[in-house]
Amino acid sequence: MIPRLTISPLQWMRSPYGVLDGALASGYTTFTTRLPVMGSCLVTGDPVLIGEISRNPDLIGGRGTEALRPVVGEHSLIALEGERHRVHRSVLLPHFFSGNAETIDRVNRKWADALIPQIGMHEVFNAGEFLSRITLHAIIELIFGDLPEQRHNEAFQLIEAWKSSFSQAAVLFLKILHVDLGRISPWGRFLINRSQVHDFIRRQLREVRRAPDGSVFSRIAHAMPEHGAPLSDDEIVSETVTFLLFGHDTTAASLAWALTHLLADGSASERARAEVSTAGESAPPEALPFLRSAIEESMRLCPVVVHLTRHAVAATQVGSHAVLRDTRVLPCMYLAHRNPQVFDRPNAFVADRFLANSSRYRHAYFPFGLGDRVCAGMPMALRQMVLLLACLLRHGRFELVEPAKIRPVRKLVIIVPSGGPMLRRVDR
Ligand code: HEM
Repeated sequence: MIPRLTISPLQWMRSPYGVLDGALASGYTTFTTRLPVMGSCLVTGDPVLIGEISRNPDLIGGRGTEALRPVVGEHSLIALEGERHRVHRSVLLPHFFSGNAETIDRVNRKWADALIPQIGMHEVFNAGEFLSRITLHAIIELIFGDLPEQRHNEAFQLIEAWKSSFSQAAVLFLKILHVDLGRISPWGRFLINRSQVHDFIRRQLREVRRAPDGSVFSRIAHAMPEHGAPLSDDEIVSETVTFLLFGHDTTAASLAWALTHLLADGSASERARAEVSTAGESAPPEALPFLRSAIEESMRLCPVVVHLTRHAVAATQVGSHAVLRDTRVLPCMYLAHRNPQVFDRPNAFVADRFLANSSRYRHAYFPFGLGDRVCAGMPMALRQMVLLLACLLRHGRFELVEPAKIRPVRKLVIIVPSGGPMLRRVDR
């Protein structure tokens, strides 16, 4: 019999990790509950049930993201379902990430080399914000190519301004605030900033339609899917926004957690520094297996996305549990990743855990999601995190400022370390 838990909506919004720790402490990796926005849900970290969920055609993705529609629009991969979702993936993914590892490495190195040396000796800085600047510059260049400096900076500033207009989750999630009074209202500012980002993308679209420039964006603008209609302008705008926004803060936050775990573990830090120095300055991510393992282990302990959301389009069954139509099923990374039946010492940071073959964690480890909706940016994010971590470690030594005070906090839909975390550069 699956237990039913009562969860305070406020506690869930503030700290889902805390709530899930409570469930684990009671021995529950699967339970039913009611959650804010989602209503009645089955939540599970059991790999057998998660495997079942990922194969069940009546449990679909896409509908769990309504609150993000004002940001990404109706035509985003994260919102689409069925045939149109498949067409978009087939058009977008080959252009984004296959066969362009060199470009991903070159662009990330370029921005790391430009920004990391600006961190002064003894400077205290918010690592999450700092990394988010690097990853935003990188994703702009990876999508639009090597734009003239002024145009690149315009994109950067428009996106930062738009993001700051919904940094308070209430602006997006409280419909009562959706009143457009121009610049004097939060919603008005959100709409104005959004239309400026859209205008930038549409301008860029007109240019690459007139004169293709070989960039990812240009290739997508001219792409013809094997089946179905090509992407319309609205669809391209929606997808570009999705990749720009979801393609940088998630990576920055995951890397911020990796720094938090690594810097709190002296011997793992030294091992990481030794690997970086032996591999040399231009080493590709493949030459840094310990760094990659430490990052994967950090994503196990602190997945920035806590759970996936699957919607039952028909009454169905998960294990012995009957799932009613129009209810939600949440494969939960946090529960799965700390499942004591799968992981030894589930709450410890074991930096080299993923050096050994990690395929035994099938359906028990999925920080990037599952099945036909698995994160479209996963190959790039993994390369990028290893590379940026190596650039940081090569640049100097860092320490956590007040490590005992760092706790998981919500930043819209992801969980980040409080304060960024704050780091201090201490030595060469
Ligand atoms: C460490 C960084 C990242 C993490 C932890 C992460 C995590 C996730 C997760 C959990 C999902 C949901 C998958 C599912 O429902 O099964 C997802 C979807 C997605 N991610 Fe990421 N992501 C990261 C980086 C990126 C990057 C760099 C990009 C783009 C450049 C990106 C673009 C997307 C897109 C477009 C989707 C929707 C896929 C679909 O529904 O077809 N993500 N991501």
